[in-house]
Amino acid sequence: MSNQDFPYTPLDNKGWRMAMGLRPLDLANWLEVDDQRSSELQLKNELLAENFEIVVATNAEGYEASAELLACIEESLKEFHPEISYKVDRSEHPIVSASRLVQEDLCVLVKSDDWRLQAASVCFPSRWDLSTKIGTTLDSIHGPVPGYDVELSNPTNAFFDRLKPDRSFWRLNWTLLDNPTLHQPFSSRRSPSGDLDDWHFRVERQTLRQLPKTKAIVFTIRNYVASAKVLREHNPEFGKHLLAALDSAPTKMQDYKGWVGVADKLRNELC
Ligand code: HEM
Repeated sequence: MSNQDFPYTPLDNKGWRMAMGLRPLDLANWLEVDDQRSSELQLKNELLAENFEIVVATNAEGYEASAELLACIEESLKEFHPEISYKVDRSEHPIVSASRLVQEDLCVLVKSDDWRLQAASVCFPSRWDLSTKIGTTLDSIHGPVPGYDVELSNPTNAFFDRLKPDRSFWRLNWTLLDNPTLHQPFSSRRSPSGDLDDWHFRVERQTLRQLPKTKAIVFTIRNYVASAKVLREHNPEFGKHLLAALDSAPTKMQDYKGWVGVADKLRNELC
């Protein structure tokens, strides 16, 4: 993807805000396919061969839903991306087979005492460790996120309980990193070093849908990364809006995201 085609820039002049930010999703747009498909799927195959324990985590409770997810992905590709041909190795865990078909990372949550992450293939984590999240609840998964417990825990749990197969949703998250690599499974929250020329704007497009048979909830994460410098060159508002967000993010969130001192550096560059 060229930076001119960068699909999502979720910044505006209103600054930082912590919000669910869910929008209705037409299932025709559930999976996004672009010209990075073959290189990203190749990278997934390499990670699955070399770092399986880092990029896949499963519990028995997630098996049936993973099989349903694989079937839904196959249906969706046939219906909305018929130009794509693929083969499925039916001897693998279905979450792994499903992951090989799409650029998205896939997380399956199953309701027991609570909604718990019971199967996942996450090849492109943005500085978090899947092995520490498997089997745990939404609240526990989000334990490191400052303010999540107060502002997002209740609405997110309620949303999961109300979600139905016929109404799906999507949302965006973004961050700024000093490394464009898609596979970043380490939780270090280093502030971007260097100047804007070395920073990368990373957007996660996330979708949430409930599977009709098992009633499990599937959370997909699709990553888009572009050079912050190039985005600024193509969109003069980008630097201004980025600064507004960095300046207004609470200190704890700046620490968590690894943005400490970044607003000042950016301000100097914009002057
Ligand atoms: C409506 C649903 C959800 C909302 C509103 C939400 C919100 C958030 C927010 C605000 C963050 C902070 C990160 C940032 O802004 O860059 C975050 C991080 C994260 N979310 Fe979610 N999230 C949702 C669903 C999920 C689900 C279903 C999973 C399942 C795997 C998940 C996994 C994570 C992880 C692993 C992190 C990073 C935590 C860490 O640093 O260890 N989220 N989420």
